[in-house]
Amino acid sequence: MTRVLKDGFNRVIDYLRISITDHCNLRCIYCMTDNVSWVPHEEILRFEEIERLVALFVQEGIRKIRITGGEPLMRKGLPEFIRRISGIEGLYDLSLTTNGVLLKQFAAELKQAGLKRLNVSLDTLKPERYKEITGLDFFQDVWEGIEMARAVGLSPIKINIVAMKGHNDDEILDFARLTLDSPYIVRFIEYMPVNEAWEGKDLLTIQRIQEKIESRFKLDPINGSHNNGPARVYKIPGSKGEIGFISPMSNHFCGTCNRLRLTADGNLRPCLFSDVEVDIKGLLRGGGKDADLLKCLYEALSLKPERHRMQTISAPKCHRGMWSIGG
Ligand code: 5AD
Ligand code: SF4
Repeated sequence: MTRVLKDGFNRVIDYLRISITDHCNLRCIYCMTDNVSWVPHEEILRFEEIERLVALFVQEGIRKIRITGGEPLMRKGLPEFIRRISGIEGLYDLSLTTNGVLLKQFAAELKQAGLKRLNVSLDTLKPERYKEITGLDFFQDVWEGIEMARAVGLSPIKINIVAMKGHNDDEILDFARLTLDSPYIVRFIEYMPVNEAWEGKDLLTIQRIQEKIESRFKLDPINGSHNNGPARVYKIPGSKGEIGFISPMSNHFCGTCNRLRLTADGNLRPCLFSDVEVDIKGLLRGGGKDADLLKCLYEALSLKPERHRMQTISAPKCHRGMWSIGG
């Protein structure tokens, strides 16, 4: 019998985002604050611990998993972990979100390990600007990483762009043009002020971005392709790629939320925007039985709020930064 997990608002929860490290080789302005601190090594869940949770949760109704960070490719042994997780029966979708800096080196191994697809964060197509946004000069590495991922057959490749006034709002059409000849799915994401990172005073809304693209190109909506999640996805007729819009701020999609998060230090986090968490590492390391771990899972589900209230940039901030939630 296939089991289904539901939260207190009758939403089906079948998607777990797992942050495997809070370390990162970039310092993106919208993510990192000046006072980042890392979780001590021994507090980070071991791969065997995560694997135990995944196997258990998949039996219970989790069907999709995304590996996030920090930057997940920085963690040693990731391909082997992916190989083990991808073999778990009942798991239908396994993906990864990476900043792409190390992708060239790992793409083939990840593919062999059973990874099907990935998302790469890339907020500019201008090499000199890349350093302004991320703090480091890795544009070329990321671009070659994306091409390598494509060459080894990881598909689809989604490119995530955090849209920021004054930083990359003049590149909206360039990103749209990228889809004309390449099979990438470029996705614009509204900046989410979860912590005190970037002082983006006013929001660049998805509506503005879409209008900008539609002033130049026709966009045909597409439904139901490639696990779109909260993205609304379109295609410029005749193009090879797709264009997605994700509007967590201007038009929250909490009503169809299907996800739960596991932080690298072993907490189940019911909502990206809320610091309410359930510690599961304590049980994992304290001889907890499977039934105890499941109790934790159900507690986290019961704590999922109906919706977030981060509509305004001045809303209260979270204690965790994005680098330790994983987006
Ligand atoms: N707002 C929106 N997106 C963000 N990301 C990181 N921080 C933020 C933020 N404050 C994105 C990254 C990555 C994904 C995991 O989340 O660029 O693509
Ligand atoms: Fe690193 Fe991602 Fe944060 Fe950029 S957004 S600093 S790549 S964790």
